[in-house]
Amino acid sequence: MQQPSFHALLYGGDYNPDQWTEDVWLADMRLMKLAHVTMVSINIFSWALLEPQPGIYHFAQLDRIMNMLAQHDIAADLATATASPPTWMSRLYPTMLPVTRDGTRMTHGSRQHYCPNGRDYRRKATALVQRLAQRYAGHPALSMWHINNEYGCHVSQCYCDTCAVAFRVWLQQRYQTLDTLNYAWWTNFWSQRYYDWQDILPPRLSPAQNNPGQVLDYWRFMSDSLLACYRLEADILRSVTPHVPLTTNLMVAFKPVDGFSWASHMDIISFDMYPANTTPAWETALSHDLMRSLKGGRPHLVMEQSPSQVNWMAQNPQKRPGHMRLQSMQALAHGADGVMFFQWRQSKAGAEMFHSAVVAHDSSEHGRIFRQVAQLGGELHHLSPHILGSRINAQAAILMDWHNWWAVEYLPGPSDRLRYWEQIKAHYHALHSLQVAVDIIQPASDLSQYRLIIAPLLYMLRPQVANNLQHFVAQGGTLLVTFFSGIVDQNNHVVLGGYPAELRTLLGIHVEEFDPFTPEMSNELAIQEEPLQGTYPCTLWGELIHLEGAQALGVFTSDYYANQPALTMHSFGQGRAYYLATQPSDELLVRLARLLCQQANVAPVLQSPEGVEVTKRVRADGRAVYFLLNHTEQAQQVTLPMGCFTSLLDEKRVEGSVEIAAVGVIVLLSETAEGGFEQYL
Ligand code: GAL
Repeated sequence: MQQPSFHALLYGGDYNPDQWTEDVWLADMRLMKLAHVTMVSINIFSWALLEPQPGIYHFAQLDRIMNMLAQHDIAADLATATASPPTWMSRLYPTMLPVTRDGTRMTHGSRQHYCPNGRDYRRKATALVQRLAQRYAGHPALSMWHINNEYGCHVSQCYCDTCAVAFRVWLQQRYQTLDTLNYAWWTNFWSQRYYDWQDILPPRLSPAQNNPGQVLDYWRFMSDSLLACYRLEADILRSVTPHVPLTTNLMVAFKPVDGFSWASHMDIISFDMYPANTTPAWETALSHDLMRSLKGGRPHLVMEQSPSQVNWMAQNPQKRPGHMRLQSMQALAHGADGVMFFQWRQSKAGAEMFHSAVVAHDSSEHGRIFRQVAQLGGELHHLSPHILGSRINAQAAILMDWHNWWAVEYLPGPSDRLRYWEQIKAHYHALHSLQVAVDIIQPASDLSQYRLIIAPLLYMLRPQVANNLQHFVAQGGTLLVTFFSGIVDQNNHVVLGGYPAELRTLLGIHVEEFDPFTPEMSNELAIQEEPLQGTYPCTLWGELIHLEGAQALGVFTSDYYANQPALTMHSFGQGRAYYLATQPSDELLVRLARLLCQQANVAPVLQSPEGVEVTKRVRADGRAVYFLLNHTEQAQQVTLPMGCFTSLLDEKRVEGSVEIAAVGVIVLLSETAEGGFEQYL
C-alpha cells in the first residue's frame, strides 16, 4: 500500500483538454498558474478517444497533455478512463450493457453503461489500464491514479444473466453449501427452498417482496462486484507503478458502496462533494468526518466540488459569494489535504454545458468565479506548509455499518420510515452543535481511543459487535444505543429470547414490543430530573420497555406504555450504557449529547457563537491549527483559548479573542505544542 506524500495541499480539478484545441490548452496553463493549481484530474472520460477501434490505441494526444502538465509543474491525477466505454463496445459485446431490475437492458449514449461483472467490459478495461500504466510509468507528471469514476453512481446494481452467474459464485464462496444458504435465507418460508445453484437469481422483479436475505446479499455482492472492478485495475497499477498512490472518487454516504471495505484498497480517500445551497454546514461536516474516518483519520481529498452552480438539480442557483471558499476551508478544517473542482473549463456543449467551471464560457480571468478560485488557490498555497498532514483528534464516535443500512431499509415492516443515514445525521448534528470532534467508525473497530460512542439504529449486530461494545463500556466508556437496535444477526435473523438480544445485559433492559408511528402519531418523553428535566415531543417510534438493572431517566407520557421507560441508563463495569427508545426533538438530542459529553469527559474544541464552527487539527510537532468558520451572514466574535496564535491567512499575531467576518474563515496556529497525533498513525 502506497502512503501518499504530497508536498502541498492539492488544488485543481477535472480537466478535459481533449474537448478543446491546443491553443486553449496553453491559455489553460496560464490560468492554472494564476489560480495556484497544483494538480488536475485528466483522462476521466477519454476511453473513446484512446481506443477508437478495438485494440487500436491512440496515446499521442494524452502524451502531449501529460508533457504539457509536466512542463508547467502541474501534477496529473491520471484517470484510467474506464467509466465510459466506447460506443463500438456495446455493438461488439452487447451483454456488457447493464440490465435493470425489471429486465430492461440499457444502452450507451450517456456514461457508465457497463455491467460490473461483464467479462468483456473487464477484459477491455484491464487491457486499457495495462497500456496506460506501462506508457506513463515514470512520467514526471504522473502523481496519482484516479481509478474509474464514481463507481455505482448511475448503475449501482445490475440484474443481468452474467450477474446471476457471478452471484452464484459469490454465494458459493460465502455459504459453501446450499443447505447453509437455505438456512441463511430462511427459504422454508413461502416455498423458496433451493435445490440447485442454477435456480438462484438476482432479486429481480417478482410478485411480492423479495426474500430479505437474498436482497441483503445482493447489496453485499454488488458492492463487492464494483470493488472487484476497482481491484482489477488497482492490481495492474500497483504492479507497474508501485510508488504511485491510488484513489477513486467515492460519493458522500453512498448506500451501494461499503466505504469501509473499499478503504483498505485505496491509498487516499477522495470523494465528490455537492451540497445544495440549502444544505446545512453540519451536514457537509459529517461528510468529511465520514470520509476521513474511512481510513483511520488519514487526510482525505475532495476530488470534486462545483465552483458555483451544478446542472443536475431541478433548478441550479449559483453558490453565493464566499460560500465556495467557506466550504473549501471546512474541508481542510475536517482533515482534508486538498480540494478540487468539477471542472476546470466549462463545456461548450453536452450534458454538462451549464455546469459551472473555474473558467466560464467567457474564458475570462476577471469574472467572480475565477477570481474567487484564484484567491482560494493563493490561500491554500500559503496554508499548505502549516497544515499538510495534520490530524483531527476525536474522542467521540458514531457507529456506522453499511450492512446494517442495507438490512434495516429493506424490511418486511415494521416501518418504511426508518432511514439509517438520517438517524446518524440526527445524532451527529447534536454533537456538531456542541463543537465536538467526531469520527464515524465501524461497530467492530477498535474503540479504545474514544470516550463516547453513539450507536443509532443498530438493528443488525454483526459478529464481535456486542462484545466490543460491552468491553468499551466495561472499561469506562459512555455508550448511547438508540431504538430498534440489537434485533438481528448478520443473516438478518432475529436473535430470539427478547430484544435487544445481545445488548440486553449491557443496556439492562428488555424491549417487549416496538411500536412504529405513522406520520400522524406522536408521543412525549418526560424527564423529571435535571439536567434534562422537561417534556419533549417524540416521533417515529415507541417501545414497551422493562428495566433489568437500568434506571429510567425519562418515560413516555401517553398511550399504552405511558410512564414506562423511554430513556434509560445502566451502569456497567466502569462505564454507562444509555438507551433511547424513540426519536425525540432536536432540543433533547442536543441536551442529551451535552450530558453524555460531560460524563464522558469529551470537551468541545472551543465554545463559539451559534453558526460558528470550530475544529482543530494537530500537527506532528504537537502544534494545533484551529479553524474558525463563520456560517452566518454577520460578523462574529470568538473567545480563544489561552496562549498566542498566528492568524495564518493574514499573518497577524492574536490572543484573547478574534472577530470573524460574515461567511469568513480564520485559521490560527498555536505557538506552543499541545501533544501530537502519533497514537493514531
Ligand atoms: C460527478 C461526476 C462528474 C460530473 C459532476 C457534475 O458526479 O463525477 O463527472 O458529472 O458530477 O456535478
